[in-house]
Amino acid sequence: MTYVSRRTFVTGAGLSGLVAAAGSRAAGEHTGGAADGTPEQIHLTFGEDPATSVWVSWASAAQAVNPRVQLQDSHDARTIHAVQRTYTDGLNGQTVFTYHASITGLKADAAYSYSVTADNDANRARPFSAAFRTAPRGRARFRWTSYGDLATPNTAWVLSSPQSAFAVKAVERFQPLFHLLNGDLCYANLNPGAQPAVWADFGNNVQASAANRPWMPCPGNHEIEFGNGADGLNAYLTRYSLPANGTAFPGRWYQFQVGSALFISLNADDVIYQDSGAFVAGPAPLMPAPSTGNAPIMPGTSLYIHGYSGGAQTRWLEQTLIAASENKAIDWIIVQMHQDALSSSKYGNGSDKGIREAWLPLFDRYGVDLVLCGHDHDYERSWPVRGCNHDTGRDVNTGAKVDTLQPQPVITANPSNGQFDTSQGTIHFILGGGGTSAPLDAYGENPASGVPQAKVITQANRPIPGAAPGTFTKRGADAVEDAIWSARRDTDTGYGIAVFDLDPATPDGKTSISISYYHALGADKAATADYRLFESLVLAKHRRQT
Ligand SMILES: [Fe+2]
Ligand SMILES: [Fe+2]
Repeated sequence: MTYVSRRTFVTGAGLSGLVAAAGSRAAGEHTGGAADGTPEQIHLTFGEDPATSVWVSWASAAQAVNPRVQLQDSHDARTIHAVQRTYTDGLNGQTVFTYHASITGLKADAAYSYSVTADNDANRARPFSAAFRTAPRGRARFRWTSYGDLATPNTAWVLSSPQSAFAVKAVERFQPLFHLLNGDLCYANLNPGAQPAVWADFGNNVQASAANRPWMPCPGNHEIEFGNGADGLNAYLTRYSLPANGTAFPGRWYQFQVGSALFISLNADDVIYQDSGAFVAGPAPLMPAPSTGNAPIMPGTSLYIHGYSGGAQTRWLEQTLIAASENKAIDWIIVQMHQDALSSSKYGNGSDKGIREAWLPLFDRYGVDLVLCGHDHDYERSWPVRGCNHDTGRDVNTGAKVDTLQPQPVITANPSNGQFDTSQGTIHFILGGGGTSAPLDAYGENPASGVPQAKVITQANRPIPGAAPGTFTKRGADAVEDAIWSARRDTDTGYGIAVFDLDPATPDGKTSISISYYHALGADKAATADYRLFESLVLAKHRRQT
């Protein structure tokens, strides 16, 4: 009997047919050399208040003894003991040890040096050390960067690519205060025999930047893993310490404020129709290692978590947006999520009506400025959108009318003053070109008119019997619409990084965000460190009075 067999997984709907091969590393084998408490995969996240608190998180191959962070500055030298969080992978049985040190009481807009160690750290004489900066308070300038779909540089893993190392270096080139990582972190669920090893390669790659500045993630469909919790997110949740959301679903969504901007991170798996979590395509079942005691996972099984919060996330979102609308210190609202409400990718997943139904009306009502996504491995920017048109879609099979809730653009040309006013409409960005090996830089076109066309998923595409006996597949999008909202699509490469510079008080009495998207030309063929400017735009609006 083969355990965690090959050729049993496929990716999400948009990449259906791509069959996963098992990685080269044996199940349960550690990556970090000797199994001791040496810190690895070190990364920062903001605490409840980014101006005064930060989490230092890491992993070690074996249980750490007295894991701790040492703040090393003469003005603030102290030891912060870390808490341990572990899980045992439900497919290969490996136990993962992670550590989380909450550093609070920091000064705003200040630099701190720190080291990470344990009594059984092989580098204890010279422990890992780095430095970070806390967020500013009030209306201050700052920069952040963003992309999703990063994967790892280890090409033994499905959907990994050497570009993901350059993508991490790109963040360091721009030196942001923090980075938004928009889901599909490492695709561990496509490597079912070695999920923890994929996470380790991801964490060690990301450390080159995430030890220096917070990387704030959201879960993507490839964080949903068989055997690791009811919603498959145990591996993700064990590794990340994130701001509390006050609900029964910690870590899956959260908010934090930096300067005059509120950042809201969502888990769109809760509202999307598409079925794109872990999936056994067959014909063989997926066999967990005997040590797990878990039963075989039969062909046709998918981990579909639509609606898992029972509406709790959407209620939290509306309450958060109401509070933001009443807070005069907040000029900007930026949403991070993985899946896309507005995507015209030709071979990717496309747009999901579930997000349009559940969240776009809230983004309209409370004036969300930006939505930053991943999922489709390309770059696309929308015009500012408000509201929607009804019954403008078509069923891909029958041609019948479908109500896709087609988003309505409210500005459809570059403004004469060069500034988009997002108080009129929300701009959606697809930034799915972190580093995964499946770039997608082709976009849909209406064959009759030649205008941009988007696939739209309006129904759950649960597994159905495939062509070969005992196999299962999933349908792609069931509808199409004209992408009247699509403003810019990068057809040169799927890879890139977006850089956002917030200016809280421009001389004309406004506040602005300058956005530059840099793409990695040629990376579709060979990995490159060369990220070049693709386009720039400016958002500007009146400040809210204090
Ligand atoms: Fe992805
Ligand atoms: Fe995805």
